[in-house]
Amino acid sequence: ASKGLSNSQFYRHDQGWYCSLVPIVGAMVADACFTARPSDIIVVTLPKSGTTWIKSLLYATVHRREHPVDAADHPFNSTGPHECIKFFEYQLYTRNKVPDLGKLPDPRLFATHLPFVSLPSTIPASGCKIVYVCRDPKDHLISQCDFVNKFRAMNQLEPVSVEAAAEMFCSGLSPFGPYWDHVLGYWRAHLARPQKVLFFRYEEMQRDPAAHGRRLAEFVGQPFDAGEEEEGVVDAIVRLCSFENMRGLEVTKKGKTDLVIGTVENSSFFRRGVVGDWKNHLSPDTARRIDAIIAAKFKGFGLSI
Ligand code: A3P
Repeated sequence: ASKGLSNSQFYRHDQGWYCSLVPIVGAMVADACFTARPSDIIVVTLPKSGTTWIKSLLYATVHRREHPVDAADHPFNSTGPHECIKFFEYQLYTRNKVPDLGKLPDPRLFATHLPFVSLPSTIPASGCKIVYVCRDPKDHLISQCDFVNKFRAMNQLEPVSVEAAAEMFCSGLSPFGPYWDHVLGYWRAHLARPQKVLFFRYEEMQRDPAAHGRRLAEFVGQPFDAGEEEEGVVDAIVRLCSFENMRGLEVTKKGKTDLVIGTVENSSFFRRGVVGDWKNHLSPDTARRIDAIIAAKFKGFGLSI
């Protein structure tokens, strides 16, 4: 299994994506092999919650001195964000590889979709920083359904209907566990140690990306100084990482990312990039059902959609 399942094995089953063992195997290998450093920064999301965006913002912010955002040779002009910050379970601990991460310069940046309870144990123990992004469950669901169906089409499989995807979502069937457990796991970790776990929401990032860019920089210990503020560095990073800019890059239009589940076109990480697209796909009844489930699960935790 640690060699990874082939594309067709992974998506052959009706519930394809939803029942995969790939993340579990990756998590086990990472848990056995990865040793976190206190200076590490880990991006965590559920798939289709803004992973590509937060990876871009984090990478551009942390590396802004050696890679000024307007430089022609900025890594984003040749390398996608998923190559800049790799997933433990999809890119690093796959196909019997145990990567040598010891020589990477501080701060090392990594990503994962794993739930808090499944993180490699040295991550919480080391006190390293976690940046979590959560998204409205209905937009996450629609975005995920579209992404899965792109894969299924590549393997000549029938698409999963939105209704079937919603049914699986409501019963908690998802490759990284139920949505509510994932979000609450990191929400509670954030409440317990806010200086170590940053909790962002996709919708709030859309409302004020510059404020989130500043909070991110402060959180990772690299706040923008007065000179940078005057030069407009924050806005430049926000522009560089915006949906419109990233989608238009050559590396997005032509590049691919090799994940253990298969090779994906970089363009598949950019669909509409808006808040509330679920209204175009979900029936009012299904939307109400999802909202009611989430409201019940989140009750008492000080979190709402
Ligand atoms: P939609 O399918 O709703 O358009 P992930 O990066 O976790 O795979 O999430 C993909 C979702 O984030 C897609 O949502 C995609 O369009 C959106 N997205 C990707 N890059 C973005 C960016 N720079 N800004 C805002 N949204 C972005």
